[in-house]
Amino acid sequence: MGSLWKWGVVAAVAALAALALMTSVCPVKYVEPSGQPFGGAGDVAFAESLWEVMDGYLDWPMQSDVLVGGTPHGALVRLYYNTLQIDGRNFHVVAKDNFGGEDATIESVAASPGDYLGAVTVMVQREPGYDPDNANWYWVKYLPDGSLDINPAGIQLAGRVAKGAESGCIACHLKAENADYLFSNDP
Ligand code: HEC
Repeated sequence: MGSLWKWGVVAAVAALAALALMTSVCPVKYVEPSGQPFGGAGDVAFAESLWEVMDGYLDWPMQSDVLVGGTPHGALVRLYYNTLQIDGRNFHVVAKDNFGGEDATIESVAASPGDYLGAVTVMVQREPGYDPDNANWYWVKYLPDGSLDINPAGIQLAGRVAKGAESGCIACHLKAENADYLFSNDP
């Protein structure tokens, strides 16, 4: 599975580079109905559709083994990649199961992942104009039952999380190499 994942990432990165090019050539004005960078009605509705089409993601062919993760996602993680159709459009989707728990080891998590799953964090490459400042990535954090996690202010973590803030998905993923917001393809 490890090498499959690598190939997937190579393909995804090539496709994403093409998308980034399109973004600069034909910008589409995206207007979030509520005007919020994240947690607005449009972003929450997208999260709900996404969770529905992600049904069965544990069986996606393109997935990694259980890996040691970096902060803040959990001691152990598993990555998944697919392209999915939402509202008639195709999107690149990178999902990540985040595992924790006192006795979590690579072996125990691999044997019964459901006992250790803390959250599912997902990045979706959205249409041009969604968030041109940040490569049009859409960010979402689900709890294991598919409900949306919230920040201390009670705002649901779905959308451009947390655009303009010093910490959060965007601020941290900005540190990934090649400005693609992805850590898994960094050397
Ligand atoms: C403080 C830094 C930090 C924050 C905040 C953060 N991440 Fe990450 N993220 C990482 C690191 C480091 C990795 C790679 C290591 C790992 O898998 O744990 C990663 C990996 C990922 C991946 C796998 C794709 C990849 O290779 O980058 C996804 C999907 C993801 N994060 C989603 C999110 C979402 C959604 C949020 C916000 C709810 C978020 N992350 C917040 C640091 C961060």
